[in-house]
Amino acid sequence: MDELATLRIRTLATGGDAVGHPEPPVQGAAATWFVADALPGERVVVRPRKLARNHVVAELVEVLEPSADRATPPCPLAGVCGGCQWQHVAPAAQGPLKLAIVKDALRGLPVTPTLAPVAPDDDGLHYRRRARLHYERRDDTLVLGFHRRRSHAIVDVQRCPVLVPPLDHAIARLRRAAAVLPEQGELLLLSDGKRVVAGLPGVRATDEVRARLSECLDRTLVGIELRGGRSRGRVGEPLLALDGSAALPPMPASAFVFAQARAEGNRAMVRHVVVRAKPHGQRVLELYAGAGNFTRALAKVAQRVWTCDDDREAVSLLRKLAEAEELPINAKHGDVAALLPRIAAGETRYPVVVADPPRAGLGRAAAKALAQVATERIVLVACDVSTLARDLATLVEHGWRVADVTVFDLMPMTAEVEVVATLLRAGAG
Ligand SMILES: C[S@@+](CC[C@H](N)C(=O)[O-])C[C@H]1O[C@@H](n2cnc3c(N)ncnc32)[C@H](O)[C@@H]1O
Repeated sequence: MDELATLRIRTLATGGDAVGHPEPPVQGAAATWFVADALPGERVVVRPRKLARNHVVAELVEVLEPSADRATPPCPLAGVCGGCQWQHVAPAAQGPLKLAIVKDALRGLPVTPTLAPVAPDDDGLHYRRRARLHYERRDDTLVLGFHRRRSHAIVDVQRCPVLVPPLDHAIARLRRAAAVLPEQGELLLLSDGKRVVAGLPGVRATDEVRARLSECLDRTLVGIELRGGRSRGRVGEPLLALDGSAALPPMPASAFVFAQARAEGNRAMVRHVVVRAKPHGQRVLELYAGAGNFTRALAKVAQRVWTCDDDREAVSLLRKLAEAEELPINAKHGDVAALLPRIAAGETRYPVVVADPPRAGLGRAAAKALAQVATERIVLVACDVSTLARDLATLVEHGWRVADVTVFDLMPMTAEVEVVATLLRAGAG
C-alpha cells in the first residue's frame, strides 16, 4: 500500500516522532500512525512506509495546516542528516514539547513534571560540545559526518550549526589526516568551549600516524588519543577540564569518556541534583557516576560519596580528581546491576542515592534492590523516559514515592531529553 493519506497529528511519541490518525480512516490499516517531522495540531499528507498490526510508520509528504511551532530548519542538511530530528521545531517550543512527552510517558504517576529553564531566548545552535562522527576514506579525502537518517551511509558535514564552533574547526583540521586513517571508522570529539580533544578508536599509533596527526594539532585541537586493539597512543594532550567554577572543581574528561552535551544545561542540572539529593553531611551512593560530573558537587558537602561506574578510564579520572581536590570519594569500578543486589543482601544502607544510568535505565532487578539500599532519598537522572517510567513504577511498587520530576533540555534540535526525578520513602514528608 503506498497511497497517500491525510493525518491529524495529536501528540509526540518518546523519540520525537509525531503520532496521528488518518482522516478519513484508511481501510485495512491501523488507526495509529507515526511520522517524523510533523507537530501536534498539524494536518499533514503522508506516505505509509511500514504497516504493522497496531500502527503504521509513514513519511511526511506535505504539511497542509502548519503548527505555530513550525520553523524553517537552520541547517541545510535537515531531514537528510540523522544528527538532528527537530530542526523544524521553533527553539522556544522545543522545551515545552519535551515536557509534554515526559508528562505523557509518566501519566500513570501522581506527579506533575516541570521544565527547568536552561538557556532562555536560546536559538538552539552552537551548543553541542561532544560529538561522535563517522568517516569513510576515499583515497586521500574523508567523507566525515553523521549517519544519514535511517541509514548507515555517512553525510559529509563541512559545518554543523549545532556544534560549538571549535568542533567545526577540529573536524576541518582532522580531514588533513585522511591518508593515514583506516578505510572507515569513528571520530570522537569533546570541547570545553575553547579547545578540543579527539579520540580515534581502531587506529594504531604508528610513527606515520602520529606524525600526520601532530600536524593537525593547533591552539584549538590540542590532543588526539588513539586506541587500536591493545595499543594506546596520544599526540598532544587529549584531556580537558570541564565545567569548573569558583564553587566546583572542573571534571577531567577525554573524548572516550561520557560527558553531558551542553555546558550551561549541565551546570543547571548538577545544581538541581545537589539541591534535590540533600547530601549535606550524609553518606551518599552514586551509581553510574562517570568521571564525576555530579560527584564533585555531592562530595563538597557530603560526609563521603561511594561511586560505581563500569568505565575504567572514567573511574581512574575520578580517583585522580578526588586526590587532587582532597574530596571524600571512594570510586569503584564495577557493574551496577551486580553491585546493587550485593549491597541489598548485606547490611550497609545509604540515606541518599543518586543514579544516572544509560538509556536502558536501572532495570527491574536493580531498581528493586535500590529500593532496599536507599533509606531516605533517591535522585534518578534519565535520558530515556520510557525506561524511567518503568524504573519509577518499580520503585513505587517497593515503598517509594515520586516527589518531583524536572525536565532539562540539554540537546536542542534533537528529541533527546534529560529528566531528574526525586523519590522519597512513601510516608516521609
Ligand atoms: C549517562 S552516563 C552518566 C555519567 C555521569 N553521571 C555524568 O553525568 O557525566 C552513564 C554512565 O554509566 C556507565 N555505565 C553504563 N552501564 C553501566 C553498568 N552496567 N554499570 C556501571 N556503570 C555503567 C557509563 O560508563 C557512563 O559513565
